[in-house]
Amino acid sequence: MTDTRPVPETSDESARSDATWWRQAAVYQIYPRSFADANGDGIGDVRGITSRVPYLKKLGIDAVWLSPFYPSALADGGYDVDDYRNVDPRLGTLDDFDDMVDALHRAGIKLIVDIVPNHSSNRHEWFTQALAAPKGSPERDRYIFRDGLGDNGQLPPADWTSAFGGLAWEPVGDGQWYMHYFATEQPDFNWDNREVRDDFLATLRFWSDRGVDGFRVDVAHGLAKELPAVLPSQAELDAMEKTTGQHPLWDRDEVHEIYAEWRGVFNEYDPPRIAVAEAWVATPERRARYASAEGLGQAFNFDLLEADFDSAQFREIITSNLEQAKGAGSSTTWVFSNHDVVRHATRYGLPPLAGRAVKQGSEWLLAGGREPELDIAGGLRRARAATLMMLALPGSAYLYQGEELGLGEVADIPAENRQDPAFFRNPGVDIGRDGCRVPLPWTHEGSSFGFGSDGAHLPQPEWFGRFSVEAEDGDPGSTLELYRRALALRHELQTAEELEWLDVGGSADVLHFRRPNGWEVVTNFGTGPIALPAGERLISSRPLEGDTLPGETTVWLKN
Ligand code: GLC
Ligand code: CA
Repeated sequence: MTDTRPVPETSDESARSDATWWRQAAVYQIYPRSFADANGDGIGDVRGITSRVPYLKKLGIDAVWLSPFYPSALADGGYDVDDYRNVDPRLGTLDDFDDMVDALHRAGIKLIVDIVPNHSSNRHEWFTQALAAPKGSPERDRYIFRDGLGDNGQLPPADWTSAFGGLAWEPVGDGQWYMHYFATEQPDFNWDNREVRDDFLATLRFWSDRGVDGFRVDVAHGLAKELPAVLPSQAELDAMEKTTGQHPLWDRDEVHEIYAEWRGVFNEYDPPRIAVAEAWVATPERRARYASAEGLGQAFNFDLLEADFDSAQFREIITSNLEQAKGAGSSTTWVFSNHDVVRHATRYGLPPLAGRAVKQGSEWLLAGGREPELDIAGGLRRARAATLMMLALPGSAYLYQGEELGLGEVADIPAENRQDPAFFRNPGVDIGRDGCRVPLPWTHEGSSFGFGSDGAHLPQPEWFGRFSVEAEDGDPGSTLELYRRALALRHELQTAEELEWLDVGGSADVLHFRRPNGWEVVTNFGTGPIALPAGERLISSRPLEGDTLPGETTVWLKN
C-alpha cells in the first residue's frame, strides 16, 4: 500500500482518456422511469434524460449507467425484458436513444447500459414460443423447463423459493414447470443453449454499434447452471458450498466461458467496451474472476454499502478491496446507494447494527418507517462524510440518482401505489425497493416537483421540494454543491490507483489516507472534534471549526 509509483495503465494521459477511462470513473446511475419525464405521462423517459445532460455535465460525472429501458411489462421495474434490442415505447424510440448517446458524448460523458442475461420476461418472443411448443422442443430448451412431480406433474419439480418470495417454479399446464429465480414473469434462460449465447453476443454488438461504451451485467453470477436429474431441495441448495464453482445455481466456474466470449466482442471495439459485474459471490477471490481482463473487467463490491458508518469496518473494506482489485488487474468499485437498497442518507440515520445496515433499513421501513429511530440530519451528515471519503478512493465511484441531493428513502408509500414484486410476493416480510425509486424532484414546487408536467408514477412526499435541484442549486451548503465541487476536484486531483494510510495518533475513530500526489483525506467518524492535520484545505463535508475537524466530517487536504 505504500508503493506510490504510478501504475503503468494510467500513467499515459492519452490512455487514461481512452481504453482505461473506466478505471477511476465517477459513474452516475439513472433509473430511467424516475429521472425526468419529457412528455408528461408520469414516467421518466429517454428524452427526459437528454434534456438533463447539461445538469449531468455540471455535476461532473464521467459516465452514466442506465438501468433497463427496454420494452417491459415492469413486473420487476424493467429487469423483465421483452426485447433486448429496443427501447420501451413508453420511454421513447431508438432514435431518441441515439440522440441521448450523442448528447452525452458531446458532453464528454460515457454511457453504460444494463444488460439482463439471467432471465428474460415471460413476454419475450422466445418464451411465448416455448409455451406454444411441446415438451422437449428446441423452443423450450432456451429456458429451464422440468417435469413436475406427482402423477400428472401437478407438483413442483423442487421446493425452491424465488428471490422475491414464493415458489421459483411455475406450471405451464402440460405437466411441465419453468424455473424463475426472480418474479414469475422472469423465466431463467438456459445458458447451455448456443442460440441464447449467440443472441446475447448480437445484443452486445447491437448496443456497442450504437455507441454504448459498456455494460452493467445483471446477476452475472447466475447464468451457468447445472441441474441434476433429481433436483436438490432448497435446504440442500442452501447447504451446498458456494466457493468451489460447483454449486448448481450460483457462481459456477463455467460462467467465465460465457464472459470470455463477451470479452471477444468487447475487444472488437476501439476503445474496448467495458463491463461491470453484479456478482454476489462467497469470497473476494471468487469476485476477482469476474473482474479479470479476460472476463468482464470489473465487478461491484457492495461491502461499503453493507457496512455501518464505522472507521474500523471502512478501513478493513477499503484495504482488502484495493488489494483484491489489484490482484485481478482491475480497479475497485465503491457504492453506497443504488436502485435495490435503502438510500444511504436514511440508512446512516438509523441505529448501527454491525454489518447489516441494508437489512436494518428494510426493517425500519417494515415497521412503518417513521421517527423516532430516524435521525434525518445525522443520516445526511454521515452520508456526506462517507461519500466525500469515497470520492477520493482509488477506483470507480458509483453514484445513484438523487444521492447528490441528499435524498432520503421515501418510507410512506401506500400499498396501492407500490410496484416492486418483492413487496407483493413477500407480504409483511419485505417492503420492497420503491422507496429509493421515487421520481426525482427538480423544482421546489409545481407538478411532481418538476419531474414532469403531470404527476409521477410513484407518489413524492411533501418534503421532496426542499431536496430539489432548484432548492440546492447555488446554495454553498447544499449536498448538490458538495457533490459538484468534489467531483470537479476529483478530476483535477486524480492520480495513480494507490492509497497509503497515515497514522492518526491513536484515534480509533479517524481515518486518514494519502494518494500518491499528496491528496489527503481525513474522516472523523466520531462525534467530537479533532485537531485538523496540516495541509491546504480543499473541501469538507461540513464547515470546519477553526483548526478542528468536527465529528462525522470528511476533509480533503493537499500537501
Ligand atoms: C438485480 C437488479 C435488481 C433486479 C434483479 C433481477 O439484482 O439490480 O433490481 O430485481 O437483478 O433482475
Ligand atoms: Ca414520459
